[in-house]
Amino acid sequence: MNFLRKLLKPSAKLSILALVVIGIVIGAVGFFATQQTLHATSTNAFCMSCHSGHSLEQEVLESPHGNNNAGIVVQCQQCHLPPQPLQYLVKKVIVSKDIIGYLTIDGFETQDWLETNRKQQADLALKYLRSIDSATCQNCHNSIYTNPPSNMKKMAVRMHAMNFKKDPEKRKTCVDCHKGVAHPYPKK
Ligand code: HEC
Ligand code: HEC
Ligand code: HEC
Ligand code: HEC
Repeated sequence: MNFLRKLLKPSAKLSILALVVIGIVIGAVGFFATQQTLHATSTNAFCMSCHSGHSLEQEVLESPHGNNNAGIVVQCQQCHLPPQPLQYLVKKVIVSKDIIGYLTIDGFETQDWLETNRKQQADLALKYLRSIDSATCQNCHNSIYTNPPSNMKKMAVRMHAMNFKKDPEKRKTCVDCHKGVAHPYPKK
């Protein structure tokens, strides 16, 4: 009771108010800092700052995802990071593990390293995409199954329809059938 009474004294009320105000300010700064970080980490430039010696960006430009009649160049994170904010943050935390790799792998930034390790790295990337049922692909290609465009190849429409007819858990995911859509997928 004594404690309560002390709290309710005018001076204490003021300090509680001050604490609340400070709390809100810190919260707001934190929120906007996170938004800024998320934004900064969402550019090709961010990815390429570590992958700087790798031909990854050029590969996208030469693929259908960078060189198409629609004039669209798909960005790294549109394929590699999930669209939902929460999953997005989680994947970021995983990506931030790469800081250790970046600091410890000898010659990581070289094209040689990429070519030597391409198969292993590609399969890691595919494993992640399978784990999210190629959600990033489906985010753009969102009418493949339900409303395929009239000019889509008959064979594609047929393959997709056959896949979609299966039970959801037996369905193949996009990257099971489509590898190398942005970078050359290594044969071995
Ligand atoms: C801090 C440096 C750093 C940044 C920034 C970075 N990467 Fe990486 N990345 C690495 C390292 C190191 C590896 C390989 C080592 C490993 O597997 O941990 C890697 C591997 C990968 C792989 C293949 C392995 C896997 O787990 O999928 C993909 C895909 C990838 N990065 C995509 C990206 C994208 C997209 C971005 C931008 C959103 C990005 N990286 C930003 C350092 C970085
Ligand atoms: C930001 C939107 C976007 C994302 C994300 C995206 N695509 Fe695409 N995709 C496109 C565009 C645009 C084209 C080119 C269409 C054209 O040429 O008319 C395309 C073309 C394609 C093609 C036909 C060309 C080819 O390579 O044979 C396939 C297959 C494809 N995408 C699969 C995928 C897969 C698999 C993923 C996920 C790893 C993916 N896409 C992610 C927008 C996207
Ligand atoms: C069972 C295998 C299979 C699955 C799963 C699959 N595709 Fe395809 N897809 C094909 C085949 C085969 C073609 C025709 C050959 C080609 O263009 O590569 C095709 C063609 C395409 C094309 C080009 C169509 C055109 O003619 O313009 C796009 C885009 C595409 N698929 C996107 C996707 C996306 C996105 C997913 C996941 C939602 C997906 N596919 C799942 C087999 C598959
Ligand atoms: C259209 C979707 C798409 C875009 C855009 C894209 N990637 Fe990928 N990336 C993939 C897929 C799918 C794989 C898995 C291997 C494969 O199928 O070729 C992959 C594999 C990788 C790998 C593993 C090594 C390799 O070559 O397979 C790295 C590293 C990587 N991507 C980084 C990037 C960076 C950096 C960017 C932006 C400059 C980028 N990716 C843009 C879809 C994409």
